[in-house]
Amino acid sequence: MTAARAEEIALRHRLVGRRAELRALLACLSAGRHVLLEGPVGVGKTALARAAADALGRGVHRVDGDGRYSEARLVGHHDPPRVLREGYVPDAFVPGPLAAAMAEGAVLLVNELNRMPEGVQNVLLPAMDEGLLVVPRHGVVRAREGFAVVATQNPREFVGTGHLSEALLDRFELLRLEWQGEEEERRIVVKEARIGGDDGALVAEAVAMVRATRGHPRLRRGASVRAAVSLVEIAAGLGGAHALEEAARMALPTRVEWAEDADPDLGALLRELLPSKKKP
Ligand SMILES: Nc1ncnc2c1ncn2[C@@H]1O[C@H](COP(=O)(O)OP(=O)(O)O)[C@@H](O)[C@H]1O
Ligand SMILES: [Mg+2]
Repeated sequence: MTAARAEEIALRHRLVGRRAELRALLACLSAGRHVLLEGPVGVGKTALARAAADALGRGVHRVDGDGRYSEARLVGHHDPPRVLREGYVPDAFVPGPLAAAMAEGAVLLVNELNRMPEGVQNVLLPAMDEGLLVVPRHGVVRAREGFAVVATQNPREFVGTGHLSEALLDRFELLRLEWQGEEEERRIVVKEARIGGDDGALVAEAVAMVRATRGHPRLRRGASVRAAVSLVEIAAGLGGAHALEEAARMALPTRVEWAEDADPDLGALLRELLPSKKKP
């Protein structure tokens, strides 16, 4: 993959920055590897994975993990009415995202793999290793060339998330995504926010505010650029002198986590975060 080709893909996907990460991901996938993208929510893991899959001309099947996600959902199931009528014929099998991605040589994008139950993680092992998936009453699904797993996980310090087994980790290359710089985050917000015209000052304030939540002593987890997009859209809709503060009352509480020993006082937090309120 040449730098020029990576650039073309990045532009097509309107990817801001992330050129080194895109080339790293493309190198891994081209080499037939599976990749674990690690980084906080909203850092751009999905956007990057989609751009890379597209660059390689591969489709994407996406799975969002949670503690109750089942093996059967990942693999696929037999359609009950068809089985009743015709028995376990091949066509009665409805492929899940894993079987479909393997059959098509596509990328299986598994969000928050570490939150998935162990059974789900175990189904992935032979698929990733040997390109094999045994489906009871259906047969063996073999992976076409191009099949790869790109999984994401939040960094370890965010508790409440499980850990991947050593066996599974051994099948992945790790690519860490850090928060992007301020200028790049502004460009992402300008690209994402649905507002008429472009309000550079509002974008700059929203991005600065969101960035100040990260590493803030009152917070265990700060907000992503997604929060800045919301802030800008809502504040633009509200208008007026206190638009950003009003927007922040709605956009921030769902996107930050309070530190254990902190008083969850939103008003106090906003006074510290809002640029205009810092002045005496
Ligand atoms: N580098 C980037 N360039 C363009 N858009 C980005 C970039 N990083 C994040 N975004 C946008 O920000 C939002 C969050 O990114 P996403 O990929 O969904 O994050 P994650 O999967 O890590 O939670 C999406 O709307 C995405 O398009
Ligand atoms: Mg995502």
